[in-house]
Amino acid sequence: MTPSAPPHPRTDDDWWRSAVVYQVYVRSFADSDGDGIGDLRGVRSRLPYLRDLGVDALWLTPFYRSPMIDGGYDVADYRDVDPMFGTLADFDDMIGGAHALGLRVIVDIVPNHSSSAHPWFTAALAAAPGSAERDRYLFRAGRGTEGELPPNDWESIFGGPAWTRVPDGQWYLHLFDPSQPDLNWRNPAVRAEFEEILRFWLDRGVDGFRIDVAHGMIKAEGLPDVGRTSADGRPQIELLGRGRLPYFDQDEVHDIYRAWRPILDSYPDGRMAVAEAWAESPQRLARYIGPDELHQAFNFDFMDATWSADSFRKVIDTALAESTIVGAPTTWVLSNHDRQRHVTRYGDGPVGLRRARAAALLMLALPGCVYLYQGEELGLPEVLDLPDELRQDPAFPRTGQSRDGCRVPLPWGGGLPPYGFGPDGGGPAWLPAPTTWRALSVAAQTGDPESTLELYRAALRLRREHTALPGGPDGAADPVGLSWLESEPGVLAFARTAPAGAPGLVCLVNLSGAPVTVDGGHGEPVIASQALDERDGGRMLPVDAAAWFVRPATG
Ligand code: GLC
Ligand code: MG
Repeated sequence: MTPSAPPHPRTDDDWWRSAVVYQVYVRSFADSDGDGIGDLRGVRSRLPYLRDLGVDALWLTPFYRSPMIDGGYDVADYRDVDPMFGTLADFDDMIGGAHALGLRVIVDIVPNHSSSAHPWFTAALAAAPGSAERDRYLFRAGRGTEGELPPNDWESIFGGPAWTRVPDGQWYLHLFDPSQPDLNWRNPAVRAEFEEILRFWLDRGVDGFRIDVAHGMIKAEGLPDVGRTSADGRPQIELLGRGRLPYFDQDEVHDIYRAWRPILDSYPDGRMAVAEAWAESPQRLARYIGPDELHQAFNFDFMDATWSADSFRKVIDTALAESTIVGAPTTWVLSNHDRQRHVTRYGDGPVGLRRARAAALLMLALPGCVYLYQGEELGLPEVLDLPDELRQDPAFPRTGQSRDGCRVPLPWGGGLPPYGFGPDGGGPAWLPAPTTWRALSVAAQTGDPESTLELYRAALRLRREHTALPGGPDGAADPVGLSWLESEPGVLAFARTAPAGAPGLVCLVNLSGAPVTVDGGHGEPVIASQALDERDGGRMLPVDAAAWFVRPATG
């Protein structure tokens, strides 16, 4: 990281700085062949929907060859498409179709671990302890008199010990499921392989990568104990945020990204990478970003903010301060395939939906790059009542927590489940949609001005029109471009700095317990998550609502 890096010249190569990226969970997006599983041809068929929604890019979750123990985050071949999702030709066709519509495509890369079905792991199991094959993973002798205890006290993020023993007595490390052995990133062969994998997909035209577990690849030398386990009642992973774990966010992980960046930069048209990284502080997270490392990291603090003005304000201020230091705008995300959907997090039912609509207007008004998760534009809630036997998350048997409820296939239209997910409307789906989703489908919401889908469509259009960075095409005058306005307690109010001569955008979010009067000086309302009350010439913003206003140009 270069502290106080100068703002980049803002060319098209910098598209990611203010882009809206739509996360496609491929398995649940659209199914072209009626097997109940979303696939790449399904994605291709729905590209016009994404263009019309108004997003700039897609991020596709893993579609590589995989036994699908962890939804494809267990990769057996990093250079091929799993037959369940299609073929490499389908991928080429999909990306060609996306580019023709002006949509960029980011793919997931999973470098921390492979699948246990990867040929490297099969070879490691067949080879002897101490062999070159074993050195591509993290095999160690156990502790105890017979080596019967795991080599250290590390816990899997999915629950239980992070080690599994093989028949000859050695143990291998898996920070996730036993079917996801961690790769040894201190081995140059592993580094060389992934650099080739990056080139393989860059050559096929991808515009960027979402790096899975980007903070995990390097483990502390000697694999020291954490010194605390779930024996004290709480999972080890909860220590994250209060200190550094020996398996996360080690300084040497940055060497990997300093090697990746020149590869990305050697391709034309602004290829980028975004880290799924967890660090103990926003300052540690910022170290992943910079002109010689990655372009972005997900700002999960925004997703974790509670429904209060103070909580959001704190996260936003911290993120903007970090943006200024690293010279790149931050990212904003409310939901993804690992988290309970935000409608449900914010209270479920009508309250949750109201708040989710307000949060969308807040997020889309902020400077930086936004990641949307498929279905949030429909206001989908988490599906809480999936039968246990249908749940597929490998964490479920061990932790009782499952991420399946945010992965239910999207409703596109029609009167019967799975609501247009398959090729002819009916057909199977790998997880069942609730019957209430009939009214939430794309077809049901299209054209209804009150619907969440039309709110997103309108907000994305207005965002393009009104949130250009000031200071001309390079945004140099003000890389942050946001100023807070005076407001009542519990209300967030800010203006986006407008380029000279352009009208300015003001965003108000009412997180207080009562309606608030809108200052006439904010300009004319252009969109609201709930209708504003017009009273005696004044305007009131309802509780749990947000609205945007456009102020006339100021010279
Ligand atoms: C990331 C993915 C998650 C997966 C895990 C292991 O956190 O988002 O879905 O289970 O990595 O690859
Ligand atoms: Mg299919």
